[in-house]
Amino acid sequence: MSRLYRLLPAARRLRIANDTLQEASFARSSAARIAAPTSPHIRWQHAQAEATTSAAGADHAPQEQPDRSQKQIKYTSESYPNIQRDSRFKELNSDDVKFFKDLLGSESAVIDGVNQDALSDLEGFNADWMKKYRGKAKLVLKPDSTEQVSKILKYCNDNLLAINPQGGNTGLVGGSVPVFDEIILNLSRMNKIRSFDDVAGVFVADAGVILEAADNHLAEHGHIFPLDLGAKGSCQIGGNVATNAGGLRLLRYGSMHGNILGIEAVLPDGTIVDDLSKLRKNNTGYDLKQLFIGGEGTIGIITAISILCPRRSQAVNVAYFGLESYAKVQEAFKEAKHQLGEILSAFELMDHRSQALYNKATGARLPLEAEHPFYCLIETSGSNTDHDSEKLNAFLEHVMGEEIVSDGVVAENETQAQNLWQCREGISEASQHFGGVYKYDLSIPLPELYSLVDACRDRMNEAGLLSADDESKPVLDVLGYGHMGDSNLHLNVSVRRYDKEVEKALEPWVYEWVSKRSGSISAEHGLGLAKKEFIGYSRSETMVRLMKQIKQLYDPNGIMNPYKYI
Ligand code: FAD
Ligand code: MLT
Ligand code: ZN
Repeated sequence: MSRLYRLLPAARRLRIANDTLQEASFARSSAARIAAPTSPHIRWQHAQAEATTSAAGADHAPQEQPDRSQKQIKYTSESYPNIQRDSRFKELNSDDVKFFKDLLGSESAVIDGVNQDALSDLEGFNADWMKKYRGKAKLVLKPDSTEQVSKILKYCNDNLLAINPQGGNTGLVGGSVPVFDEIILNLSRMNKIRSFDDVAGVFVADAGVILEAADNHLAEHGHIFPLDLGAKGSCQIGGNVATNAGGLRLLRYGSMHGNILGIEAVLPDGTIVDDLSKLRKNNTGYDLKQLFIGGEGTIGIITAISILCPRRSQAVNVAYFGLESYAKVQEAFKEAKHQLGEILSAFELMDHRSQALYNKATGARLPLEAEHPFYCLIETSGSNTDHDSEKLNAFLEHVMGEEIVSDGVVAENETQAQNLWQCREGISEASQHFGGVYKYDLSIPLPELYSLVDACRDRMNEAGLLSADDESKPVLDVLGYGHMGDSNLHLNVSVRRYDKEVEKALEPWVYEWVSKRSGSISAEHGLGLAKKEFIGYSRSETMVRLMKQIKQLYDPNGIMNPYKYI
């Protein structure tokens, strides 16, 4: 990326960098954003498992996507034989399918594997993004209205047919795909934007609207969706709410629990819960919509949301640093909060291994030539370019002068900014590129956040499971990255193949490690199937009992996303 300005690790050279940095800020106008030729975000298509990345014309953009083996994913029921199908649930027959076809009308709204062989059409809906979980659903339903969702659920509840709600199927805990033959209720046809009030900043839309489409719409009105994540080209806003997704700018905009103003949902018995409030303040009793946020489809289907959206920032800066130790990363974070204050919109951490794997998987050159044990990506967003540049320069001068940061680059235009972001966002895809990945998404107090990665690597080595070169070893590498600003570590154990020995060495060891430090075993991805058994490491018996009571109240027949969550 030749036009990036390089920061030099000495005060004398920093002056040069500062001169250039005056020009390094760029206005990230909504027009420029919309006009971007291609999205750098990963798109996960149902039909094809291959994710694509693109950042046209930039030399740090991913250069190639080597072929990944399209090996068959094992059925979840075979990988986890201890999970048994609930015999209370009815098996689908032609009469059931006829009911749904009559209700939904359009051919494309039903994928019918009951009356015909539709295995290949169903595959993308049955398999998850990590290629770790695979269900055996024979029916996918794609309603296009809340009324249709209501009638489907009522029928399923009356007939004890289990349901798996599904958005963009980008979830990372196995919650979005069935375990057995649950009907997949996919929200992709519920994709209308209902309204946007550009005075109050309130956006109302169907649950199946793709996150990126929602954000593009808001950009046209000078606003931003208060959530951004690497799967934005595929995930749906309903799925984001159902998982209480955190993402890259939670540090700035806060969580779904704070931003969601209203929800329209359908309960298992078909009741439509019309709580699509646009009010910022509404202290009239229990805030029941919060139960759907992070509910992972276990108590009802979210059909629409209303959400508070901030103004889109005029000036956005992105910088990428190399640092020599985790202690320096913490110092840099402290300084960023202190000196950048209200304009700091992201502070992301990547270790050397995660960047090396990204480079290996994509062929993209990394922004810094020399290797550093740690990298950080910092973003500022504000309303005044000069003011932001001044603050950023003062910050850079300090962290360089004090040798907190060893080297770094600042983007000077949007393409460069996107490419720097791609070094962070592209890790997810890279982590599973060579076979699969065991993902742990953890909240850990900052001083100890990275120690888990070292401890985990030692553990994999001691068990003789890890080798960078020896193909007979299942583990390829152990990576750490994540949302430093939210004390959220992503520990990824990248594997050549899923292997029970690796799983046994990791679980419950990782959860015990986190629990001892009063962390959380799921910071933002949820519990799904992957972490269901381990909830006790983060929640007390009393809390779990209360959750079970809520589940029982909303879904007495247990048809909503069974075998998951709780
Ligand atoms: P799905 O995967 O389809 O479903 C997720 C869960 O929600 C399932 O349990 C499903 O049953 C339920 N569900 C979906 N839609 C509804 C609905 N309308 N009503 C009720 N239940 C529903 N997560 C983060 O928090 N932060 C990140 O930075 C982040 N980055 C990611 C990057 C990549 C490349 C990928 C693949 C995933 C990432 N994720 C991240 C995971 C994240 O949970 C999802 O991307 C997203 O929030 C899920 O949305 P979805 O529409 O794909 O939902
Ligand atoms: C991220 O922050 O990149 C996501 O949560 C996905 C992942 O953990 O890989
Ligand atoms: Zn994340």
